[in-house]
Amino acid sequence: MGRAKKVVLAYSGGVDTSVCIPYLKEEWGVEEVITLAADLGQGDELGPIKQKALDSGASISLVVDGRESFVTDYAFPAIAANTLYENRYPLSTALARPLIAKMLVEAAAEYGADAVAHGCTGKGNDQVRFDVSIAALNPELKVLAPAREWGMSREATISYGEQFGIPAPVKKSSPYSIDRNLLGRSIEAGPLEDPMTEPPEEVFAMTRAIADTPDQPEYVEIGFEQGVPVGVNGDRLAPIALIETLNELVGQHGIGRIDMIENRVVGIKSREIYETPALLVLIHAHRDLESLTLTADVTRYKFGVEQSYGELIYQGLWYSPLKEALDAFIQQTQQRVTGTVRLKLFKGNATIVGRRSDTSIYTPDLATYSDDDKFDHKAAEGFIYVWGLPTRVWAEKMRQG
Ligand code: ARG
Repeated sequence: MGRAKKVVLAYSGGVDTSVCIPYLKEEWGVEEVITLAADLGQGDELGPIKQKALDSGASISLVVDGRESFVTDYAFPAIAANTLYENRYPLSTALARPLIAKMLVEAAAEYGADAVAHGCTGKGNDQVRFDVSIAALNPELKVLAPAREWGMSREATISYGEQFGIPAPVKKSSPYSIDRNLLGRSIEAGPLEDPMTEPPEEVFAMTRAIADTPDQPEYVEIGFEQGVPVGVNGDRLAPIALIETLNELVGQHGIGRIDMIENRVVGIKSREIYETPALLVLIHAHRDLESLTLTADVTRYKFGVEQSYGELIYQGLWYSPLKEALDAFIQQTQQRVTGTVRLKLFKGNATIVGRRSDTSIYTPDLATYSDDDKFDHKAAEGFIYVWGLPTRVWAEKMRQG
């Protein structure tokens, strides 16, 4: 008796997930492996990937375009929440995982599979995100993670695959582990494991080196409706096009690179390089528009919510009661976050230089230092007396000893 009869495997086309196909069948007695390659804008050619799965022994090879949902249902809520894990990482990889989990669970239902599988190892965050998301969506379904258990080195994995006609990678494989989608690239391992080693220029693909960026600044205006980005420079853009346009525009100015040591869910510190041009700029612009449209107390309270929201995405809790509850709060706050933010892109910086909104609560009559000032200056005195009263009482007490 095998561990499962029919399995839907998350498939990337790489050696590890390809080897999972014969491994599941030969070692774990799985009768049928259906692969699912999610197109999240990673830019791979999906035709060859589809065939590669069949050549590696899959009975059915699915390719599902998830790009639209990825942007609308995963990236946009994260932008509304201004999420930056540990204040820096906009979660470009982490956001893809719950969507892939959902696709796996849906395919399992459609094809009558009793398990789903992924090729994650035991050290990363992604195994946590897959396993927990799948359990949340269908707790009956088994989750198989062969690469977590097989204990094969890279070389052993390649020779295992060769026995089953899976070709070894043709070019000398890159020392880096790279994850890529529409929202960005995550690059780790190899020389980057030394936290003091500067990332070589070759690891970047979406952002230019500052030395190669234009010598003139470029202005860009991003439009939002109820917290959702809807346009660039006055043109209304569909979600995928909006992200693609901004990646290009912003990346060209060398904006969107992050180099950080982050704390993984499994307790390990790891060094990761990211490039997420559109997503980072969208979060900064969105936060700025909130500064014009939200009250002070909502803004401050939301900071805490944003932090929790970012952590739960990172930690694999996208499908969770906390996420749903925080969504309700965030959605409520976004009703009047509509307007336009203007940024100047230049030499690695996206500087916010202006913002406007019909729902702005910035009040020129109150803010101005000119004669039009409507603020009641005398009222400030009484306010300060009351506001400072506890401090005054304390100071008097201290003087008396
Ligand atoms: N550290 C990132 C995260 O946990 C990315 C993980 C995948 N990184 C990679 N280079 N393959 O979301």
